[in-house]
Amino acid sequence: MAKFPKNFLWRASTFTSQVEGAYNLGGKGPTIYDKDDKKLNEGTCSFKYASDFYHHYKEDIALMAEMGFKVFRISISWARILPEGEGTINPEGIAFYKNVFKECRKYGIEPLVTIYHFDLPLALEEKYGSWANRGMIEAYVNYCKILFENFKDDVKYWLTNNEYNVLIYYEAVDMMTGQVADLTQLYNTGHVQLVAMAKAMALCHEISPNSKIGPAPNLASFYPASSDPKDTIAAMNMNALRNFMWVDPLVFGSYPKEINEYFRLNNIVLDILNDDLTAFRNAKPDFIGFNCYGNETVSYLDYYKIDWSELVGGDNRKNSYLQKLTEKPGVGKAVANDYLPRNPIDDNPYDPYCIRVTSRVLTDRYHLPLIVTENGYGRPDILEEDRTIHDQYRIEHLKATIEQMALGIEQMALGIEEGAMLFGYCPWSAIDLVSTREGITKRYGFVYVDRDEDDEKAKISPMTRYRKDSFYWYQKVIESNGENL
Ligand code: BG6
Repeated sequence: MAKFPKNFLWRASTFTSQVEGAYNLGGKGPTIYDKDDKKLNEGTCSFKYASDFYHHYKEDIALMAEMGFKVFRISISWARILPEGEGTINPEGIAFYKNVFKECRKYGIEPLVTIYHFDLPLALEEKYGSWANRGMIEAYVNYCKILFENFKDDVKYWLTNNEYNVLIYYEAVDMMTGQVADLTQLYNTGHVQLVAMAKAMALCHEISPNSKIGPAPNLASFYPASSDPKDTIAAMNMNALRNFMWVDPLVFGSYPKEINEYFRLNNIVLDILNDDLTAFRNAKPDFIGFNCYGNETVSYLDYYKIDWSELVGGDNRKNSYLQKLTEKPGVGKAVANDYLPRNPIDDNPYDPYCIRVTSRVLTDRYHLPLIVTENGYGRPDILEEDRTIHDQYRIEHLKATIEQMALGIEQMALGIEEGAMLFGYCPWSAIDLVSTREGITKRYGFVYVDRDEDDEKAKISPMTRYRKDSFYWYQKVIESNGENL
């Protein structure tokens, strides 16, 4: 089978609010995740105690070292550094992350640090409303300055905002009223984030010239549903709208032309200032980090004749950001893909080609090194009486993805020439964490965290860690540099 380069970075990811817990300890300010004990679904836990990484970080990092990690992706909570989002720095917050990074270094693990992963300080939401407000740019850049100055000796790899591209679509429809949001405002929420991120990238290069910084969007290529040329055009449109428009400004200094028609048809106007374009030109990301859970298949959509029930997953406009895109003229419709394999354990379709294909597309377009910052499979896991966890479905999923990834990677010397400039892979996630939509019952980790959806129990639980079958499997994958799958 194909081989990975010698220095390939094997690792995994987590995100503060989903693992850290200690929501009101160590001087941390409230985030939007603490608002009304934010729960997205009835019966799920909140993010208050999560997996209590705050108190378990030494044990968790030791487990990652045991698995052989070379890099650990973690995010910093803005409200732990700046409880009000701006103004006074919380020294306990700085000290906490310094200790986490020190612990990583003890084992030779390189931290890859996300600056902002969904958990906006509540004070900023109250002051600015949303990312559509340009006041957020200065607040974000000031926060980044504090991080770069304080952690320049601890952090070599920075990621800016997690999934800023798909996240905006989750706000496209008001869950309470069913009203479709104003699309101009929605897309400007993304534009303001891009400007803020571009400024942060230039600042990082100035303050910490030895560090490298890149974005972390969720990118997934589109397969045309058939050889009908109209399906190919639909796939091209979707690629431009869902992927390229969120990376081009940072790399090329401007938005791709292909989005103009969609914006014209839907009366969307981006508020682009000259200063924004200067910021884009100066961003110069060193690499592109991207989350990739599966590509999409798309067919031409005659917008004026949509039968919503025909869409993959039925009429799911309330929850699917893709369908929210589809609600407007100028894009394609997502359909099922019968060529994809099904996981033998639970019969769910999955896409092992997603990273192989998407990283080739990105390499062709951007010629920048790539890191997969998330990929994985979340399902409920069972803790057996003998404290083992048999998550074979996760192993099958990761194995198939890694096999395909190996085929796509750049290794001219070995005669494998697909040429994707992929230098690292971070499955989601290192340890179990609270899913953004489905509580702790849906698990992603190589390490099982013993807690359930009950917050009151979690508050006093020791949250014991147990190694899953996938833990031992991934350990061998890393040890053999991807040969032993
Ligand atoms: C990614 C997010 O979109 O998907 C993670 O960056 C998230 O934060 C992951 O956990 C899986 O989604 P979910 O909803 O199952 O947690």
